[in-house]
Amino acid sequence: MEVSTFAFDRFKPLADDACQERITAARKALGARAVVLCHHYQRADVYKHADLTGDSLRLSKLAAQTDSQYIVFCGVHFMAEVADILSKPEQISILPDLSAGCSMADMANLSKVERAWRELKQVLDPDQHVTPVTYINSAADLKAFCGEHGGIVCTSTNARQILEWSFARREKVLFFPDQHLGRWTGYLMDIPLSEMLVWDPDEEMGGLTPQQIKMAKILLWKGHCSVHQMFQAQHILRWRQQHPGGMVISHPECNFEVCKLSDYVGSTDYIIKTVAASAPGTRWLVGTELNLVNRIAEEFKPQGKMVQFMAPTVCMCSTMQRIDPQHLAWALENLVEGRVVNQIKVPLHEARLARIALDRMLAVS
Ligand code: 13P
Ligand code: SF4
Repeated sequence: MEVSTFAFDRFKPLADDACQERITAARKALGARAVVLCHHYQRADVYKHADLTGDSLRLSKLAAQTDSQYIVFCGVHFMAEVADILSKPEQISILPDLSAGCSMADMANLSKVERAWRELKQVLDPDQHVTPVTYINSAADLKAFCGEHGGIVCTSTNARQILEWSFARREKVLFFPDQHLGRWTGYLMDIPLSEMLVWDPDEEMGGLTPQQIKMAKILLWKGHCSVHQMFQAQHILRWRQQHPGGMVISHPECNFEVCKLSDYVGSTDYIIKTVAASAPGTRWLVGTELNLVNRIAEEFKPQGKMVQFMAPTVCMCSTMQRIDPQHLAWALENLVEGRVVNQIKVPLHEARLARIALDRMLAVS
């Protein structure tokens, strides 16, 4: 099959309306050969074209189940990689804009994690004592590292089960790249904050002493989500004064204080389900990405539920936002013409090891 990436310039100036029609026509022409998967943070003008939607865990399971030849992933790079790893060899995973990355995933890379593993060897044998756990928001080579070193992948939905699995095997965890998800999950498991220490990959030995490494239960990689870091405890405190009967729900990528002040903490799927199940008239403050919050605010308005965004500033996942109608139309029309653009292909050796860590996760959750 001819591979072409040259023609996006023809789509760039297209009006959004024109794109909508072209996307609909291309999807009709492709039929069951293409499936469009969308993460909950996807912008509304793309999300409306989804065949299947979900959080990271659900999307990875859906990618493993679909029989479509083309998996068109409207999400970010690591999600399309997971789809490639879990799908059949003949299926093709496509990310309509290759620049749709995840800034948190970029906060850890293989050379830094390998260096951390080497440095840990100066204190203990990590392959005996430390389970490496990578959040699914990470590059495939980090998942492969976990596969090779007795480790596992987690999502925001299953992080607790995954940490339980990890501690049943080795007494410590190296958790990357999101310190907040790791800390919140450890806290739910009654691990004292003093035993969850931040590993700073830019410092020698993570900035820790051998004694600190020996006493730590979880080493939390110094990474975070640039979107969720915008939500602050003061936003909740101020809102609660104005709406004493209101409920607060946050994603576990928010900082510890925000999670602690929230009534509920969970994945994007969990947030949607919890608001959906609440009584008419409930007022919600939601600490996660703006596209999702705007969508559920509209969806649940007729039920008398009021859904508000936690931060006073706009906090969108600007990288996921890059999957716009122009890129989706471009990717789909190329498929109609028999050309694959923006295929995400994880090298075979890496995919095999990453799959071990992903399969461990899927077996646990
Ligand atoms: P979910 O798995 O909850 O959808 O989270 C993915 C993500 O990137 C949140 O920022
Ligand atoms: Fe990554 Fe944050 Fe965007 Fe989620 S919201 S995909 S963690 S940058």
